[in-house]
Amino acid sequence: MQQGTIIVTGAGRGLGREIALTLAAAGMAVAATDVDGSAAEATAAAITAKDGRALGLSLDVRDATAIKAAFTAAEKAIGLATALVNNAGIYPDNTLLDMPEATWDAVIDTNLKGTFLCAQRFVRQRIAAGGGGAIVNLASTAAFSARIGAGHNSASKAGVAMLTRSMAQEWGPHGIRVNAVAPGLIEVEGNRVNPEYKANFLPMIPLGRTGQPPDIAATVAFLLSDGAAFINGVVLPVDGGFLTGRPLQRSGGI
Ligand SMILES: NC(=O)c1ccc[n+]([C@@H]2O[C@H](COP(=O)([O-])OP(=O)(O)OC[C@H]3O[C@@H](n4cnc5c(N)ncnc54)[C@H](O)[C@@H]3O)[C@@H](O)[C@H]2O)c1
Repeated sequence: MQQGTIIVTGAGRGLGREIALTLAAAGMAVAATDVDGSAAEATAAAITAKDGRALGLSLDVRDATAIKAAFTAAEKAIGLATALVNNAGIYPDNTLLDMPEATWDAVIDTNLKGTFLCAQRFVRQRIAAGGGGAIVNLASTAAFSARIGAGHNSASKAGVAMLTRSMAQEWGPHGIRVNAVAPGLIEVEGNRVNPEYKANFLPMIPLGRTGQPPDIAATVAFLLSDGAAFINGVVLPVDGGFLTGRPLQRSGGI
């Protein structure tokens, strides 16, 4: 059973929605936020339908003023947040040579700046309340392993990985732990993974399967729990072993 209040960004669908539902089922009050306000409200409604405590809020993580307003509204409705999950992120495909500047900016602003702005607001509130709390940032295996068409995403997630370590150093003395999860290929709702890409990717995953949203939500829940009380500043791959390297045998098949 986990207590307290959590803010989840990008909670309208995909991993954010699963994380919100999982932490609510574990006993936390949840502020489900998303740039798509009606999707955020739908996540909150799914939680309250199961007797959980939740609030759905429209929030664009690129907007510092909106973050302050949303976090204050969440505090008034369901209590001061004790945990934050920086999940909102975008990963459009675009090769570098023809990438519009606006696409680069959108990815960096959402994935990296949004993570910074939300964490800064959360921590200011936590320190004003005496400290303590936990943050989980959504990085990606893309932080460590490049893919054609994902240069902007990889750069943003490598930034999230280092930002996680800096946050852990600066905010650990306030009793605030900051960790990150680096998902591999996870099939979110709507199954938007191209079948050909998936078929090519599967041989690179030692466990032989793609991930599912509960694989990520369970890891986030663990990192926020007391069981992870001495874990601070890690970027934890949840990828079936993809980041181990190349699963190839030089002298033939296994
Ligand atoms: N699915 C994967 O395979 C995978 C792998 C590695 C990392 N990730 C990371 O996990 C996170 C969630 O990914 P997903 O697959 O669930 O994505 P998704 O596209 O299914 O959901 C992302 C959610 O974020 C919201 N969002 C987008 N821009 C926003 C903004 N500016 N402010 C607030 N909300 C915004 C969207 O409306 C959407 O509800 C992202 O940070 C992503 O980079 C996902």
